[in-house]
Amino acid sequence: MTPLEWIGLAALHRIDPETAHGLALKALQAGATHAPGVVTSDRLRCSLAGLDLPNPVGLAAGFDKNATALRGLSRAGFGFVEVGAATPRPQPGNPRLFRLTEDRAAINRFGFNNEGMEAIGARLKSRPRDLVLGLNLGANKDSEDRAGDFARVLTHCGADVDFATVNVSSPNTEKLRDLQGKAALSALLAGVMQARDELTRPVPVFLKIAPDLDDAELADVAEVALSSGVAGVIATNTTLSRAGLRSRHASETGGLSGQPLFDRSTRVLARLSDLTEGKLPLVGVGGIGSAGQAYEKIRAGASAVQLYTALVYGGLSLVQEIALGLDALLQRDGFTSVAEAVGTGRAAWL
Ligand code: FNR
Repeated sequence: MTPLEWIGLAALHRIDPETAHGLALKALQAGATHAPGVVTSDRLRCSLAGLDLPNPVGLAAGFDKNATALRGLSRAGFGFVEVGAATPRPQPGNPRLFRLTEDRAAINRFGFNNEGMEAIGARLKSRPRDLVLGLNLGANKDSEDRAGDFARVLTHCGADVDFATVNVSSPNTEKLRDLQGKAALSALLAGVMQARDELTRPVPVFLKIAPDLDDAELADVAEVALSSGVAGVIATNTTLSRAGLRSRHASETGGLSGQPLFDRSTRVLARLSDLTEGKLPLVGVGGIGSAGQAYEKIRAGASAVQLYTALVYGGLSLVQEIALGLDALLQRDGFTSVAEAVGTGRAAWL
């Protein structure tokens, strides 16, 4: 962490988390954050479902919900960035975010608060082109056709993104996670893939899953993912589990992210890698806060990783630190590329 970043973060942690997040986005918009530009090397350069990434360290969805800080994010060192979730209509949501400092974690019950696909789509039109950019698709909570919402957002915004993610794993929209069931998921993905195929430039579509699926549910998800044409799976979203927490906000309702999610989400990732026999690229998310943890996800089966909550505690310079640290770990173990390391440590998580 840079000294300036340390002072900035110390100040942000004195105010409520939602205001602090707004200020962090303003700092990014103003170009006042750590900006190393493109972080890459021969070892870090990799491919994810046909996307060429300068490095495999991405920004997870939910940080820039409305795509307002794309320029700053394009210089922050990420290998790829996912914005959103975007829903068809604007939605105030139920903004509540808690910092669990002792646990290096967060609980949020935002529930897809966003400005809607029209406003977000307009910003995506003038996006920086030197950035691999994806959009997290969501559904309005009062929608009569939630499954159709995902396809609607993709149809509206698809021309201006490099990939899209079907997010049926947020715990903050009632019954959304039910869409992860076999029949519902197949039908939903069929609609999204049709919308994707109708785009002038069809983009890869990822499916993002919850860390709270049991083995049978995970096997169903793997089967549907393999047969539906999705380009890959993002594992995982936040958890409903509260195991092992110490912070006073531990019993707040919502999705838990950060350090305590690492083991649970990595187990789901490894299990999915096993079930899909390496046929589907996987993105590992949940609790990454160091190069060692990014490496662990890759060795558990991820072709790329994403993070969010650790940035609240470590600042944006963590992105470059993780990418360069990952390069060093790959080199230490004799790997000449990220791809060579994928899944090499999977057995330890099964
Ligand atoms: C999220 N996350 C999330 N995921 C998603 O698919 N769509 C979304 O809109 C959001 N929104 C969101 C808001 C907030 C405040 C947080 C903390 C998280 C989940 C996020 O992308 C990621 O999957 C988890 O946070 C786990 O990663 P970390 O935070 O432990 O690195």
